[in-house]
Amino acid sequence: MTTKILNDYRLKWNNLELVPLVVGGMGVEISTAELALEIARLGGIGHISDALITDISDRKFKTQFVNKKKNLYKDNINNLDKSNVQFDIDDIYQATHLYVKDVMTKKNPNGMVFINCMEKLTMNNGRDTLSSRLNAAMDAGIDGITLSAGLHLNSINLIHNNPRFNEIKLGIVVSSSRALNLFIQKAKRYNRIPDFVVIEGPLAGGHLGFSIDSWQNSNLEDIFYEVKEYCANNNINTKLIVAGGIFTGQDAVHYLERGAAAVQVATRFTIAKECGLPYKVKQKYIQATIDDIEVNLTSPTGYPMRMLKNSPSIGGRMKPNCENLGYLLDRGKCAYIEEYEKAKHEYETQQIPFIVKNKTCLCTQMQLFQCYTCGHYTYRLKDTTHQLEDGSYYIPSAEEIFNDYLFGVN
Ligand SMILES: Cc1cc2nc3c(=O)[nH]c(=O)nc-3n(C[C@H](O)[C@H](O)[C@H](O)COP(=O)(O)O)c2cc1C
Repeated sequence: MTTKILNDYRLKWNNLELVPLVVGGMGVEISTAELALEIARLGGIGHISDALITDISDRKFKTQFVNKKKNLYKDNINNLDKSNVQFDIDDIYQATHLYVKDVMTKKNPNGMVFINCMEKLTMNNGRDTLSSRLNAAMDAGIDGITLSAGLHLNSINLIHNNPRFNEIKLGIVVSSSRALNLFIQKAKRYNRIPDFVVIEGPLAGGHLGFSIDSWQNSNLEDIFYEVKEYCANNNINTKLIVAGGIFTGQDAVHYLERGAAAVQVATRFTIAKECGLPYKVKQKYIQATIDDIEVNLTSPTGYPMRMLKNSPSIGGRMKPNCENLGYLLDRGKCAYIEEYEKAKHEYETQQIPFIVKNKTCLCTQMQLFQCYTCGHYTYRLKDTTHQLEDGSYYIPSAEEIFNDYLFGVN
């Protein structure tokens, strides 16, 4: 019997026969437009992310959205209460539209590009900013939206009047059937069952949909069967995409044989040439050992996050930067601001070193590529490349990694 390979399968959507390999969203600018476009060219599904969209737009298109906001709120910099620091909703729309339009005009029609939209980016006005982000992406021609980092119970309401509501592929990332059920109950009101569900297990990179105590006792395969059964019992016809620790083509085949429509991966592509991480950081990811990786609670979102222990974002003392960015502000607050003030007070009164240990200024640290978030199997990356004469590691192209998934037999 010949071993099956990922390339033996196809994901049929509309009139396309896609390679069932999705490269997941990696904010901020880790899953770049270049990476997403390359994945689409190869016949798969790539993701861009709208995290820090004003900053991305400024970098790529020389807009001035971040400066404009900073100037407007500069008098608030020393104020702990950030309630009045609001995004201009029209700027969010424009920045998203510019970015998505640019990507979609360059996209090869053989594949698809989706946008990853995290609800936890509450942007001090969750409803209006999310509405602007989602509708701008749809208006600019995105193929699909992957809702993540939150339950997204009101997201469908924000887009159901968009003329492309039924045209785009709409999906959600969940880590349990319970979370999916909550979303489905809302979605049913708009007669819009998600086209796909990404079932993300505890070995994924970025934020985890588990508590800090429960991730170690959970496993992807169990959650996959749980969600599959939930869908079957409730007549929910949607494509199941499995994510978190799918490190080889054979890992992917394992799930496709059991009824998954595709797999979503990320960690293997963090070291791709087209990935946005700086070269030096890619080298650190490749060098990492299992002991260098941890799941911690330094993200102000409250979700556990996996990262390298030597991530410069841990134990920094960056001044809160909400007047510039402020993507995690919720009703004027962010857990980082509170920790920062506590550390500052201890430093001034008790002469304790001024280090914010427990939380990180995630917007700024992600903007600077100083939060080395990664998947559990990052320590295996060194097995996927080779060392060069100067001791550094070879950086593969996205195509090389893609083909390794497609044709890999071990
Ligand atoms: C560096 C990195 C950043 C990530 N950022 C995001 C993100 O911004 N939003 C999101 O929904 N998922 C994010 N993820 C999760 C991936 O999209 C994906 O579902 C998951 O990591 C797949 O597992 P794997 O990394 O083991 O292949 C991130 C993953 C990595 C490795």
